[in-house]
Amino acid sequence: MKAVVFDTFGDPDVLHVAEVEVPEPGPGQMRIRVRAAGVNPVDSEIRSGTMQAVFPTPLPAILGIDVAGIVDAVGSGVDGFPVGESVVGWADGPAGAYAEYALASQVVRKPADLPFANAVTLPTAVEAANRGLNQLGIKAGETVLIHGAAGSVGTIAVQIALARGATVIGTASDAHQEYVRSLGAIPTPYGDGLVERVRALAPHVDAVLDAAGKGALPDSITLRGGTDRILTLADPAGPSLGVTFSSGTRDDWSTSDLAASVDMAARGELTTTVSGTYPLEQAAEAQRASQVGHAPGKLVLIS
Ligand SMILES: NC(=O)c1ccc[n+]([C@@H]2O[C@H](COP(=O)([O-])OP(=O)(O)OC[C@H]3O[C@@H](n4cnc5c(N)ncnc54)[C@H](OP(=O)(O)O)[C@@H]3O)[C@@H](O)[C@H]2O)c1
Repeated sequence: MKAVVFDTFGDPDVLHVAEVEVPEPGPGQMRIRVRAAGVNPVDSEIRSGTMQAVFPTPLPAILGIDVAGIVDAVGSGVDGFPVGESVVGWADGPAGAYAEYALASQVVRKPADLPFANAVTLPTAVEAANRGLNQLGIKAGETVLIHGAAGSVGTIAVQIALARGATVIGTASDAHQEYVRSLGAIPTPYGDGLVERVRALAPHVDAVLDAAGKGALPDSITLRGGTDRILTLADPAGPSLGVTFSSGTRDDWSTSDLAASVDMAARGELTTTVSGTYPLEQAAEAQRASQVGHAPGKLVLIS
């Protein structure tokens, strides 16, 4: 099968398409004929080698956590997912979803009227958004500030917070203000003057979810008057500022949360935004776009 492989850590150019063995599903696993793979910022960090201390990756490696495709073979003990079923979920390591086939054990059914590329925007984003908003304890009637509101996690976090009855202020670049408004949030640009802009929009911010990691925590602390109910998913400076950094593990993957979001998306009640699609051969370009900024939503590889 074709897969995007890297044999050495480095810049996006280390990614190349190679012929590799089709993986065999073990107990509890499905082999998925991948139709769409999500491109997550963490993929670039793994590829660069900067994650080696916390997330050691043996080489050669195939990236890709979010996967959508068609069940192609099942291992022992897999029930309810026949060959031919369309699914979306998380790829099992170590080989990931940047390939024609991947193994997975935590998936949900993908409704026919939700395209693969849209479905694959959901697994990581839904998990991170739910975890962040749950840890912050967001309740109806509260005002939550979400940094990175136009990103793949932000897109989902805004909508989940709104569904809980919160008012959402979302930061984004000037170019993405209308997108954030279209999700139902009150948009505001990030950067200098953020505290004053947010105060003009809301007398009180109850909680802050940072899904950007681009230095907005000091302003967030000013807005909250302390570090209570501020959580970052992305800023490594968080702990040194007294702000909780939340990172997930596969134990946090919830197929019930994912199934609920997939069904909402299929009914048109949750917006899924594909930032751009790339063939496997252009995985390096997709990762460059992921690192330097991209259209709203999630970058997707199509195979
Ligand atoms: N800890 C976890 O469990 C976890 C899970 C998933 C993701 N993450 C992390 O969360 C971050 C976001 O992931 P993602 O997939 O949503 O990435 P993404 O789609 O690339 O979104 C990043 C967003 O950050 C915004 N941004 C850029 N500079 C900003 C600034 N100075 N202030 C506020 N926003 C800014 C961008 O907005 P514009 O496009 O409008 O410039 C963009 O929409 C990444 O660092 C990722 O590694 C962590």
